[in-house]
Order: sequence, then structure tokens, then C-alpha cells
Amino acid sequence: MTVSAGRLVLVAGELHDLSGPDPEWPGGRETLFHAPGTSLPRRRDVDALIPLVSQPVGERELAGLPGLRVVANYGVGYDNIDLAAARRAGVTVTNTPDVLTDATADLAMALILAAARRLREGLDLARSGDWSGWHPVQLLGMGLSGRVLGIVGAGRIGTATARRAAAFGMEIAYWNRSRSAAIESGAGAKRVERLPELLSAADVVSLHLPSTPDTRHLLDEAALAVMKPGAILVNTSRGAVVDESALAQALSSGRLAAAGLDVFEREPEIPADLRNHPGCVVLPHLGSATREARQAMWDLAAANARAVLAGEAALTPVQSSAG
Ligand code: DGY
Repeated sequence: MTVSAGRLVLVAGELHDLSGPDPEWPGGRETLFHAPGTSLPRRRDVDALIPLVSQPVGERELAGLPGLRVVANYGVGYDNIDLAAARRAGVTVTNTPDVLTDATADLAMALILAAARRLREGLDLARSGDWSGWHPVQLLGMGLSGRVLGIVGAGRIGTATARRAAAFGMEIAYWNRSRSAAIESGAGAKRVERLPELLSAADVVSLHLPSTPDTRHLLDEAALAVMKPGAILVNTSRGAVVDESALAQALSSGRLAAAGLDVFEREPEIPADLRNHPGCVVLPHLGSATREARQAMWDLAAANARAVLAGEAALTPVQSSAG
């Protein structure tokens, strides 16, 4: 292997505790930790970048790092990266699929349960000191057994969420571009052809789509209006898939009973209408936040960077660098 002395791997500073201070790279490359909250430096000596999903990597950032060969995104979603610009620059882009599937599906299930059983209101009441005692009709929620869960996007995380919900006695329907044998055999799910059909049949809708121009505000005012009165919306994918003001309106009008949201369109901003609604359980993008998943995400991102720097094929490429 050619020794690339003087070359650097630029790593998001927030990853320091997972990576250790001195990760090993091919060719004796050294690590340059990028200070949290600052823009990417402009340097010719960086040939690999490991950014967080909150770090935009577009034309400007790529131009500032002209020696770059690989962007190993620390996350499965890669809407922070301009793939066309990366392709033009000959930069390989990789992500971290699989290793966070269980963690994210667990959180989706937690949000389904929390929204259905009114956990936020229960916690507020218990903490207020004003609870007057057990009451037969206090904070009644939705029982999940026998209810229909509509999965929008039957990829890895959608399928893993469906399997969990099936164990709670839910019936699973799904909407996806193509048929998925995994969700059908793993969760007994039935495919519906059109999204409105799924939305109008589901008691709980859980979103598992990437953020792309096609999925932006897929759940807009018209789509939310098709949902069953009293239904629940859960989103652990990307905030931009939902029109947040339309959702706030659907909650405040009482058309939707509740929502469980882990992601927001303009993070870290969480719209006040959603934050303050008692039926809306909001979390600060915790989908993959288990020790196991976050460590495995580092291991995979670093392995991707190492492979490309060593002239080997990336383990989990998002696109080839050809073209
Ligand atoms: C991802 O990997 O895309 C997640 O949103 C980060 O947890």
C-alpha cells in the first residue's frame, strides 16, 4: 500500500468518544476532528470525511476538500449529502444500514405505544402533584391489539417495526413502491396499492421513508385529511416527509388523536405547536441512540472509509463514484 503521509481523515468531533482519540487509517493517515457547530474546513490534505447526518455536504463543501475520495456518512439517511455533486467530484458516498435497524424500530414502537397510551399526558399528570387518584375514564387511550398499523415504506426499519407491532397483536398493512416478501412473511403484512387507501384504513401510521424531493411533505394537509378520525401518526424517518403545520392543525382540530415524532424538518427546531400539544410525544432524534447502535455505526463508517482509502470496494456504498 502507498503510504500517504500527511494526509488526513476529517471526522465529526462529536464522534471522538466512539472512535477513540487515535483511530487507525491506511497509509498512516491521521485524524483531524472537526469542531462541533463549525463549518467544514477547506483543505487539500483531507481524503476522507466522516460527517454526522446534520452536516450538509454539498458542492461548496466538496469544493473546499478537493482531495476527498470518500464521504462515509455516520447514519443510514444521506439526505445531507448532494449525491450528484459527489458523483461529479468522483467521491464515493457510504452510509450505515442494518446496524441501527433494531434501535430505530424499537423507538418507533416506543412512540406508537407512547402516543396510543397517552404517556406524555400521564407523565405530566403524575409529576404535577395534582393527580386525584385512579379513575375509570382517566386518560383513556387506544388499545393496539386488532388495530391496523399502516407502514409507509417497507425497507429494513419499516419491516422491523411491523414485526414488533405484529407481536402486539396489530394487523399490518404497507405501502411501498414494490412488494416486500420480508414484511409479508415477517409480519403477515398486506400490501395496498395506493397511499390514500393505506391512510384511510390505518389506526396508526408509521413513516419509514427517506427524505427526497419526491417524499417532501408526502403527508400534507390532503393526506392527513384522509387519515381515520382519531388516528395516530408516528415519524422516525425524516421530518421533511410531513408538513408540520398541517400536522399541528390536524392535532389541534382533534382530527388526529396523537402523534409520536422523533424527527423534524428544521432540526434542532421543533415547532411550538407540536412541542406544546399534549397528544404529541416529541423526541430529539433518538432513533439510533443506543450504545450498541451508535458504536456499530462508527465501526461501519470507519470501515467504509478505510476500504475506499485502501483502494477496496466500500462495504455499504450509496452510489458508485463513477460518472
Ligand atoms: C440516520 O442514521 O439516518 C438516523 O436518522 C441517525 O440516527
